Amino acid sequence: MQGRFVVTGATRGIGRAISSRLADAGHEVVGVARRGDPTFPGAVVVPDLFVAADRAATIAEIGAAGPVDGLVNNAGIARGASLVDVRDDELDEAFDLNVRTAVEFARAFSGGMAERGWGRIVNISTVATVGLAGRTTYAGAKAALEAMTRVWAIELAPHGVTVNTVSPGPTATEMFEAVYPPGSAARTEVLSSLPVGRIGRPEEIAALVAFVCSDDAGYLTGQNLRIDGGRSLGRGVMG
Ligand SMILES: NC(=O)c1ccc[n+]([C@@H]2O[C@H](COP(=O)([O-])OP(=O)(O)OC[C@H]3O[C@@H](n4cnc5c(N)ncnc54)[C@H](OP(=O)(O)O)[C@@H]3O)[C@@H](O)[C@H]2O)c1
Repeated sequence: MQGRFVVTGATRGIGRAISSRLADAGHEVVGVARRGDPTFPGAVVVPDLFVAADRAATIAEIGAAGPVDGLVNNAGIARGASLVDVRDDELDEAFDLNVRTAVEFARAFSGGMAERGWGRIVNISTVATVGLAGRTTYAGAKAALEAMTRVWAIELAPHGVTVNTVSPGPTATEMFEAVYPPGSAARTEVLSSLPVGRIGRPEEIAALVAFVCSDDAGYLTGQNLRIDGGRSLGRGVMG
């Protein structure tokens, strides 16, 4: 089935790769980001998803323009701070973008998918939910998203709508390159945590998301698919 897909955080990095891949598969793609992009493979709506009124207006605009068959909740924010240094505003930001936005978009569009008997919802999480120092707000918010995936999957499965989480490991996006520049000690440390010995590419994450959104994936729901170069695997020594 080819349908109309909404992708949040769509203009750069993983969201952009997902949008291109979905468009290549014949879907109509509606991207959501703060800034437009003339090369985007579809329409772009430009709210600031931290702002409740912007989120509501965006949902109304997209809904008024036509039915939504798929939703990729990709917009996210990762701030680093040790537990004792977590700021209230960072906690709010993490939950507003990673959780509240996803709930509001899914709440708005899942009913139509269920009525029409087909739909795909993909929530983008992170390997950080298995435990990563300095990621209280990020891992906490993404873990909430992972839990909601399972709840929504049960509620929507009888209506032909699947809901899954895709959890990337370190992936070479603009955001990642800024925090872990080539040659930096931080990047060397990240690389040493990856059994495959390299950083992932946005296109690799997008390929998995495209499969999850395909008709072939209709029996797959409520799962957390980790695509992280083995980062989430136990690394214990024998003994
Ligand atoms: N990169 C990684 O290593 C990695 C690993 C695991 C999980 N993830 C997850 O993958 C997802 C995408 O990450 P990424 O690295 O691709 O991010 P990115 O390169 O920073 O891209 C973020 C996208 O979201 C949009 N965006 C950001 N804040 C927004 C806001 N307040 N309102 C509307 N749009 C906003 C950005 O466009 P504007 O700036 O124009 O708004 C951009 O299109 C996130 O959920 C992240 O947690 C990433």
